[in-house]
Amino acid sequence: MDQLSEVGRDLETRARSVLPAGGLGNMAATTVIRSGRLGRVWDEDGNEYVDFLIGSGPMLVGHAHPEVTEAVQEQVARGTTFFANNAHAIALAEAIVEAVPCAEKVRFVSTGTEADLYAMRLARAFRRRDKILKFEGGYHGMSDYGLMSLWPQRPGNFPQAAPDSAGIPRSVRDDMLVCPYNDLATAETLIHEYQDELAGVIVEPMQRLLPPAPGFLEGLRAITAKYGIVLIFDEVVTGFRLSYAGGQGFYGVTPDICTLGKVIGGGFPLAAIAGRDDIMAHLDRARVGEDGFMPQIGTLSGNPVAAVAGLASLRILKRPGAYERIFDNGRRLWAGLEAGLKEAGFTVCISGEPVMFDAMFTAGPVRNYRDTLAADAGLAKRFTTLLRGHGVFKSESKIYVSLAHDDADIAHSVAAFARAAEELAAEMR
Ligand SMILES: Cc1ncc(COP(=O)(O)O)c(C=O)c1O
Repeated sequence: MDQLSEVGRDLETRARSVLPAGGLGNMAATTVIRSGRLGRVWDEDGNEYVDFLIGSGPMLVGHAHPEVTEAVQEQVARGTTFFANNAHAIALAEAIVEAVPCAEKVRFVSTGTEADLYAMRLARAFRRRDKILKFEGGYHGMSDYGLMSLWPQRPGNFPQAAPDSAGIPRSVRDDMLVCPYNDLATAETLIHEYQDELAGVIVEPMQRLLPPAPGFLEGLRAITAKYGIVLIFDEVVTGFRLSYAGGQGFYGVTPDICTLGKVIGGGFPLAAIAGRDDIMAHLDRARVGEDGFMPQIGTLSGNPVAAVAGLASLRILKRPGAYERIFDNGRRLWAGLEAGLKEAGFTVCISGEPVMFDAMFTAGPVRNYRDTLAADAGLAKRFTTLLRGHGVFKSESKIYVSLAHDDADIAHSVAAFARAAEELAAEMR
């Protein structure tokens, strides 16, 4: 046992004594990351990994990118948060309005959870109705509303929503409706039936790793527009990732409002609600009066450190060839993953888009949350663990590709996919 592994073990022991379940709520207590640089991370045991977690998405340009680091260091020396307006947050809002089709106004918050919570409330304030329709398995943060029918193990009847956490008031069930993703006919029927009670429809344009079926987002757009119901795209993951114009640019469907997070904070806590001026007006008492006003305050909202990190990231992503490179990286990794698993004899369905995808151990097709339950999650988990042993770091459910991954990272990972797949097959014999 070398010294660094003692350090790692000691940290794990300390974590278990002070953190519930020994962790931050995100990853297993046994994973303690010390540093990251571009496409790689190092753990406290000194192991090096090609990183496909990328901080759960924010580090699209890579860890400690020199331009982001320089911008942040410069700002830190000038003060880290003021609560009042600052020029960097204004510039970031301008960049979002320029890039994102639905964005006429922007309100910053600190997390995607907050952004989604406020986006749903904005829909209620605008429509003066209570119900929100979401799609089963759709992730919209950790609020009471977001946690309805997020990952039910025993799915119920549509459109009844069920809480996926202890501690959620019973009353929340009455305010959420749930529909299967990619099932436009059911969505249209529900929206028609509940048109007088619905404030909004919230959807991830690509739900987790499930791309929208042809016509699905277009159909949602048409029926919500028909009844004046607010269409919310949760672009916390897809924003500035599927394209510089987000999922709405990539799939060519513009919602009324969207939420953004992850990439726009450049690795710092920053998220946003962006959308139509007349809906965002409910954040402006002077525009809508006392009755329609929706107060929204946050200590760190739009803080200048996060704003400069986000601006630097967007500058890098806007350069010609950036998305081509991320997609090219992703296509090579996708092909390597699929080949490795299939050659080892597994039946898999690789789902997602080249910027984020993963193998599901099922013949597919995988079009909605219930289809994902047919995949063997145990195999996916074990494959992820075996990959870790070959210097590839990812979550159990996703490979996030970054601009910083280079040819060496990709070659290493493709070889690791093949070796881990062979080991997994050997374990099953
Ligand atoms: C689609 C989506 N929405 C919202 C969130 C919540 O964002 P945060 O973790 O910043 O609260 C996430 C987080 O992964 C997400 O994937």
